[in-house]
Amino acid sequence: MKRARGIIIAIDGPSGAGKSTLARTLAKRLGYLQLDTGAMYRAMAWLARATGLDLSNEAAVQLFCATADIELEPVNGSSRVFANGREVTAEIRTPEISMLTSRISALGPVREAMTNLQRRMGAQGGVVLEGRDIGTVVFPDAELKFYLTASAEERGRRRFLELQAKGDSISLEATIQDVQQRDAQDAGRLLAPLRQAADARPIDSTGLTVDEVVSLMEQAARAILAGKER
Ligand code: DC
Repeated sequence: MKRARGIIIAIDGPSGAGKSTLARTLAKRLGYLQLDTGAMYRAMAWLARATGLDLSNEAAVQLFCATADIELEPVNGSSRVFANGREVTAEIRTPEISMLTSRISALGPVREAMTNLQRRMGAQGGVVLEGRDIGTVVFPDAELKFYLTASAEERGRRRFLELQAKGDSISLEATIQDVQQRDAQDAGRLLAPLRQAADARPIDSTGLTVDEVVSLMEQAARAILAGKER
């Protein structure tokens, strides 16, 4: 029996749908690499703010993208994130950076730089990538694609609990509003908007446990892998 290379698994969907937890858990069960592409865009936003980048200056944005160095370092089923060599893992998870990321990720040069990097990182297979445009743009030929959703209230509540656990004093209402505003921006942009790929399997995670969703995903992955080994 020939040993098949690992497949590429794409998980797309709006913010707070549970992509990160699911991608991490699924990658662990399959022994795959997890790539959080949102963290890469967040690191770009962090760097843009740190360097005072003027988002309306096209030449400056081009130069910024050509020189930005974003790295993900896998550690114990999670990732450390670096921007130009500086660790930004915790600093990129604030409401302010979330909003800036949603704006900066609409820019062509930013998308091009991140898409190229993601393709290089995932090309070998054996990888679970989560984001907004993985199944539609980054890896349209991925062997397995999921489109994960949950109600806006549920997604806002999950984000709120995450932020509250970190000591952030944002309210539940403001978090739900933030999530809805970001989704509208991400789905309404011209380049690589958030949308379900025609061949993606939709999963509504409202009211489901992580284990229930991961088991569905793992079953689908193992069925494809079994087919490849035959
Ligand atoms: O998944 P996240 O919340 O960490 O993503 C932060 C932002 O990055 C999100 O508002 C949209 C953008 N993003 C994107 O445009 N394309 C991706 N593949 C991943 C994230």
